[in-house]
Amino acid sequence: MPKDPHSDLPAGPRHVAIIMDGNGRWAQARGRPRLFGHHAGAKRVREVVEACPDYGVKYLTIFAFSTENWKRTQVEVAGLMSLFRRYISKEARALDEEGVRVRFIGDRVRLDPKLIKLMDNLEELTKTNEKVHLTIALNYGGRDEVARATKRLAQDVADGKLRPEDVDEETLPKYLDTQVLPDPDLVIRTSGEARISNFLLWQSAYSEYEFIDTLWPDFTAEELGRLCQGFGNRDRRFGAVKI
Ligand code: FPP
Repeated sequence: MPKDPHSDLPAGPRHVAIIMDGNGRWAQARGRPRLFGHHAGAKRVREVVEACPDYGVKYLTIFAFSTENWKRTQVEVAGLMSLFRRYISKEARALDEEGVRVRFIGDRVRLDPKLIKLMDNLEELTKTNEKVHLTIALNYGGRDEVARATKRLAQDVADGKLRPEDVDEETLPKYLDTQVLPDPDLVIRTSGEARISNFLLWQSAYSEYEFIDTLWPDFTAEELGRLCQGFGNRDRRFGAVKI
């Protein structure tokens, strides 16, 4: 991995965001139900989180359930919700011991109170950890996030806490779910689809994208390393011209 000329850190992405796609196809290819693929997908998360420090990745954000995923069959939605509950209960200790700080983004209103409690507890348990910041997007949609943020911003204007003329590009991000996170440097989508599906719309304005054919349950730490390495060789100009 090339070194950042200004520090000892690898010149890779500091914040990687992943659209974990392809669980259903992975299961179907094995003649198994879609939920089998989601369980296999959940198992990949630990290896990927643990590999982050090796590649200088400090922030990892993963798309676990979108605001559109409620349109799936009741069996699949219920299975995914049960998987999230089990995952959080089972992985909490290991994530904490690994020094991972876990946060959740997305709208909690539609989620089961038992799941919300587990999410709150995991955020509380890991709140002083700093090795890796893992953010799990659950009932998350970029448009929904911007709409919710705008509603809160409008309320602050109505309450006289904010003047409309002071609203600029720096204002809205303070109302987004991701307010304390840096923008993603690299967004990866597995399974061969080249679209962003409402993920981190505001935040990924200048992100690099990698669309790879690997189905999420086959994604490995080595593949993350390869993509981070590729990122280090790119020249990001943020709209400016290099002199
Ligand atoms: C997309 O694959 C994947 C999802 C909608 C769910 C993502 C969930 C996981 C990887 C498992 C759990 C994660 C955590 C944090 C416990 P798809 O079903 O759309 O696959 P397909 O495109 O092949 O049908």
